[in-house]
Amino acid sequence: MAKLIVANWKMNPSTETEAIKLARASDHKNVVICPSFVYISSIKYQVSRAQIGAQDVFWEESGPYTGEISAVMLKNLGVRYVIVGHSERRRLFYETDEMVSKKLLAALKEGFKVILCVGEPLAIRRKGIPAAKRFVKKQLLTALKGTLNLKPITSNLIVTYEPVWAISGGKRDIRGKADKPEEALEMIRFIKKILDSRFMIHDSRIIYGGSVNGENAGDFLKYKEIGGALVGGASLRPQEFRSIVRTAWGY
Ligand code: PGA
Repeated sequence: MAKLIVANWKMNPSTETEAIKLARASDHKNVVICPSFVYISSIKYQVSRAQIGAQDVFWEESGPYTGEISAVMLKNLGVRYVIVGHSERRRLFYETDEMVSKKLLAALKEGFKVILCVGEPLAIRRKGIPAAKRFVKKQLLTALKGTLNLKPITSNLIVTYEPVWAISGGKRDIRGKADKPEEALEMIRFIKKILDSRFMIHDSRIIYGGSVNGENAGDFLKYKEIGGALVGGASLRPQEFRSIVRTAWGY
């Protein structure tokens, strides 16, 4: 299975012109570009190899939900992927596992490939890997609880293991400290076991996120269990992003 590289631009860049330029520079195969909602329409015509994803979605189809975007709206725009449960949404906007579960179900039902983010905060990781596993297991059990009767679309699920403390902040010029590849691998194997045994999901992709850059990408992607990377800050640096993508093509 070819590795998948997801570019999470977060709330960047500030102008449409820059967004278009960045999209053109990031237009590679096996790449999903997740721009801000406001740029989706203009950049979808600029890329031919990359797919377009959204950074979030709301679970209702339409109605009085000021500021929200539905799965149908995104689908009608030609978006194929959607991120749900990113730790920034959980932390800054108080998204709970229950809300993440509703978003995930709405998006799966609409036919999206859903990128579900899970990962423990620093205070938990300081207690050790077993504590991190317990935390991530709870996130997964709640987020996926409604999926048991949704087969076969659960193969559209992509889980991102993204330890919160490893995220760089998604700024162009800030580099964070990624997880140790062996420890991320252990967590990813653990996630796979849960998907297999609790949800009968045997074929889904699990990727790593958190300060992936041009230098460390290979340390994660070399493992067959790590199906790709979710890239924040480095996805805003076109040259570095291209080097991550090329590394991924090598595996
Ligand atoms: P980062 O962000 O690569 O800047 O750490 C990853 C993410 O939060 O998606």
